[in-house]
Amino acid sequence: MKLAVIPGDGIGREVIPAALSVLDAFGLGIEKIPLDIGYGKWERTGSAITNEDMDIISECDCVLFGAITTPPDPNYKSVLMRLRKELDLYANIRPFVPLKSIRLPCDTKEFDFVIVRENTEGMYSGVEELHEDVAYTTRVITRAGSERIAERACILAKSRKKHITIVHKANVLKSCSFFRDVCIGSAQRNGISHREMLMDAMAYDLILHPERYDVIVTTNLFGDILSDVAAAIAGGLGLCPSANIGERYALFEPIHGSAPDIAGKGIANPIAAILSVKMMLEWGGWVEEANSITKAVNSVLCDRITTPDLGGSYSTTDVSAAIAKLI
Ligand code: IPM
Ligand code: MG
Repeated sequence: MKLAVIPGDGIGREVIPAALSVLDAFGLGIEKIPLDIGYGKWERTGSAITNEDMDIISECDCVLFGAITTPPDPNYKSVLMRLRKELDLYANIRPFVPLKSIRLPCDTKEFDFVIVRENTEGMYSGVEELHEDVAYTTRVITRAGSERIAERACILAKSRKKHITIVHKANVLKSCSFFRDVCIGSAQRNGISHREMLMDAMAYDLILHPERYDVIVTTNLFGDILSDVAAAIAGGLGLCPSANIGERYALFEPIHGSAPDIAGKGIANPIAAILSVKMMLEWGGWVEEANSITKAVNSVLCDRITTPDLGGSYSTTDVSAAIAKLI
């Protein structure tokens, strides 16, 4: 397997080497292609990612991605969005399971749900107009785009509780009723039961009753927002991984951003990036290795070897070294 490695900016440059040290502990012979891509490069060269970078990436099987700073500058195009679009990584899979000895904000520890977020269209269609006195973003929801994400959710549901929750805002948005109808059709064809939730009610209920949910399927922006809510429920952004999956390629990344406020201090939590490596191994068929990462992470958490976000005083590399040692 050929892996493009994009640490990116900020803490991405700390958590990705830490996660790679865990990957290296398996000795799987994965070929790593390091790439300098991101906002730092944009400041230096005027381009965050070049066409040559894209060519190199498309010759790899998958990408391990740290985080890239996206300034609110209309001239700056998000690298992650470009990668998702050009590699057609249409499914953003974000699992939320409580890890051992993590203090959670809600009473229950009995949840285990996955957000399946459409990743290439919706509010992120890129169809935008900026005028003097008005700005437009077109929310594009296609049948093909909705069908393939709904199918993904149903395939996942078949290996779990055979149930999906469709999250939308069909009470006000026609594009949402369209998405909902496609998802229901897909659930029925696949023999999967479903429930619908309005996005606002969902945010509320997920915080109070995360144990009620299993596979959650939704559109791009709703999935973005809901997964940050879910990360808070699961104990923090420093713990939550994600997989961006297409037919041909995949990209694995922690949900968190580049966190410029703590960058360079060596205190970023590497667990989200390490669990992203776990998702990559699962995707590549190394299921046993993937499971051993979860075990090692839980064991290190139980030993309270944690970074300051979890109340500990260990560094990024202390945590990753402890996990790598167990492997
Ligand atoms: C995420 C991030 C991205 C998104 C940003 C960095 C473009 O928030 O992966 O959740 O909005 O999708
Ligand atoms: Mg987000």
